[in-house]
Amino acid sequence: MDIRTIGTPSLLLDADRVRRNAARISDIAKRNGVRLRPHIKTHKCVEVARIQTAGHNGALTVSTLAEARAFSRHGFLDITYAVPIECGKFSEAIDIVRNGVKLSLITDDAETSRQLDDAARKAGVRFDVLLKVDCGYHRCGVEPHTPEAIEIPRRINDAENLNFAGILTHAGHSYNTTSKEEILAIARQERDVMVALAEKLRSDGVEVPTVSIGSTPSISCIDHLRGVDEIRPGNYIFFDAFQATLGSCSFDDCALTVLAAIVHRDRGRKKIIVDAGAIALSKDRGAVEIDPACGYGHVLDLEGNGTGMRVESLSQEHGTIHVLNDEVFESLKVGSRVRILANHSCLTAAQHSHFNVLENGKIVDRWEIHRGW
Ligand SMILES: Cc1ncc(COP(=O)(O)O)c(C=O)c1O
Repeated sequence: MDIRTIGTPSLLLDADRVRRNAARISDIAKRNGVRLRPHIKTHKCVEVARIQTAGHNGALTVSTLAEARAFSRHGFLDITYAVPIECGKFSEAIDIVRNGVKLSLITDDAETSRQLDDAARKAGVRFDVLLKVDCGYHRCGVEPHTPEAIEIPRRINDAENLNFAGILTHAGHSYNTTSKEEILAIARQERDVMVALAEKLRSDGVEVPTVSIGSTPSISCIDHLRGVDEIRPGNYIFFDAFQATLGSCSFDDCALTVLAAIVHRDRGRKKIIVDAGAIALSKDRGAVEIDPACGYGHVLDLEGNGTGMRVESLSQEHGTIHVLNDEVFESLKVGSRVRILANHSCLTAAQHSHFNVLENGKIVDRWEIHRGW
């Protein structure tokens, strides 16, 4: 298989960069004495998870129960499903536990923890449950200073078929920043809010086995992790144009690109159209606050070198790129190929069925992506 002949659009994954990115976060975890439970939503791929967890205990974070099922079939048996559980998913979660998986769930809702305990008792299973905490992102989670932040752990602790497994947060607001200083402030907030809540719970007599935090920007720049037990970054394994613009990594660290073919050229308008549209790249915006012209991806040549061009607009199967340099325009024929470094690798990967794995510029393998819910 060759990147000049495989079908397009398709994913190219640079295995060397994956290994390098894995080593970087693995070192941060080891240096700080915390457990690593990487979020595999970025790749949904067993081979990538094996690289990420090498030298660690194999624990994973997932974003769908389909990921939990697929990865457990491949021997990953300690899994946190890091989207708040709701009653419509209880029976699927019970089936996963019955298959021998240590599946931890999260909630920020007292009534749901009661219903989950009932369902677990009837099914004869036990769940580990973590309290989802809002450390400032304001997506999900209890506010740490409210009575619920103490009350829900107590209820989980008292429930017959639930174990209170600790507190978990995700500083997603670390993406809404424009400088390393801002990311560091959010990283410290993520850590400090959680450590303070754990101390409060402990002083109220509630044991807190795990304090779990993590986003790629915050973990990439955190100064210390005292009081934290576990980190759950995900995107770092591929990084992307957003993270490189934000400063979590360099452009040279980005491991995932989309191979695309030119399907149309318009000399008058100095533009080309590639066959990677919104479905192949995702329509996620980049770090627009820092780079207003970020568009929908950086255009690279086949060797992976930047060309300075961007994918400026997208429809479902079409990407538009302006080519202002006449010499470059003449070199790009219909059927020529480029690589595109997308803004958000997690959303890009989730649109595809597999990765074409690159070693030294050659495709050497094909790794499956486990999609679905
Ligand atoms: C709950 C949770 N934990 C961890 C992560 C990993 O964050 P990142 O991809 O920034 O590393 C995410 C990402 O969305 C998340 O939602």
